[in-house]
Amino acid sequence: MEYLATTSFAMEGVLRNELTLLGYDVERTTPGLCLFRGDSDALIWTNASLRSAERLFLVLGRWEAKSFDALYDGVVNLPLEDILPADGRYPVNARSFKSELFSLRDIQSITKRAVVDRLGKAYKLTSLPEDGTDYPLMLRMERDEAMLLLDTSGEPLHKRGYRVSGHIAPIRENIGAALILLSRWFGKGAFIDPMCGSGTLAIEAAMIATHRPPGLERDFLFEKWGLVNPAKTQEIRELMRSRIKPPETVIQGYDKDPRAIRVARKNAATFGLDKLIHFQCRELEEFSTPLRGGTVVTNMPYGERMGNREEMIELNHLFDKTILQLDTFRLGVLSGDAWFTQGKSRKPTRVRKFYNGKIITYFYQFEPLARR
Ligand SMILES: C[S@@+](CC[C@H](N)C(=O)[O-])C[C@H]1O[C@@H](n2cnc3c(N)ncnc32)[C@H](O)[C@@H]1O
Repeated sequence: MEYLATTSFAMEGVLRNELTLLGYDVERTTPGLCLFRGDSDALIWTNASLRSAERLFLVLGRWEAKSFDALYDGVVNLPLEDILPADGRYPVNARSFKSELFSLRDIQSITKRAVVDRLGKAYKLTSLPEDGTDYPLMLRMERDEAMLLLDTSGEPLHKRGYRVSGHIAPIRENIGAALILLSRWFGKGAFIDPMCGSGTLAIEAAMIATHRPPGLERDFLFEKWGLVNPAKTQEIRELMRSRIKPPETVIQGYDKDPRAIRVARKNAATFGLDKLIHFQCRELEEFSTPLRGGTVVTNMPYGERMGNREEMIELNHLFDKTILQLDTFRLGVLSGDAWFTQGKSRKPTRVRKFYNGKIITYFYQFEPLARR
């Protein structure tokens, strides 16, 4: 079987590494996605384990389509009835990049017509009832290659299920995990988020440190389809649970806002991770640590969403005086500020630019200057 996992643009390298570590052969990596092969067990292994992924699709077919006729023929010739039942509901979405077919509405309606024609003929029905379980389809065009995809995740994979309370400007869970993995923190050495907000980065770090798959406790749309024996899925979940280990390290989250710390503790407690993370209310100005090294990953408040420009400048200055002085630490800072490094005492080793939702952001990485 062929699968397509999606993530945010610029995070595909992290996703590829995760898939390789899980033992899958990645055939293609392009911005925001990885195409790979796996058996039906991959449905639970990848949906539950991938930290940086947003969705997992099953590839029902791919072919070249430079005309709407080629698009229709490609879909109608796929043996869709092998997977799609007579009573499924088939919403169709479309995306198109650098392709001759670009009208999403037309791609959508032609794909839908071809699916209905194929299934109608296979099940000898003049119209499909579409009153059963959802089978969300996506027709993705890229460089004239059409791919018919079936969404196996349902709720996007960033929804782990631990976020019980809201907080201003939380980072998406899979992006948080990807930033930690980009910072090459794999659960060894101290981890600190000095502006932790609702605790996303610390919670993702705790799951990495304990080898806990982020989607272990949630369910996925494919489980409603009867494609995989539920006993097998349960067995794999049990195996995942048996591999959870106590952490070998220290994880800390600080914030100046006591409400944020309350929310962070509550979120961590949902997965029983509150005992593993030290959350504390503390102003960045007062930040100091006796630790001799480790990794800091944090998410600066966004100028537009939090505070005004003067406050941002003041906070940037504080950041320079405190966090950037941790010269034995590896640092990763997500900021919406293109000028974040201006006037700072240290220059980043690497800057990655990407979209966090619709907001353009920069991930500034600093390698340690000194050995501990
Ligand atoms: C963008 S939010 C972090 C969101 C977090 N990553 C999450 O997923 O919830 C930035 C956080 O920085 C905190 N903050 C702002 N100024 C601070 C300061 N001077 N000291 C400590 N925390 C501060 C805010 O209270 C806010 O919770």
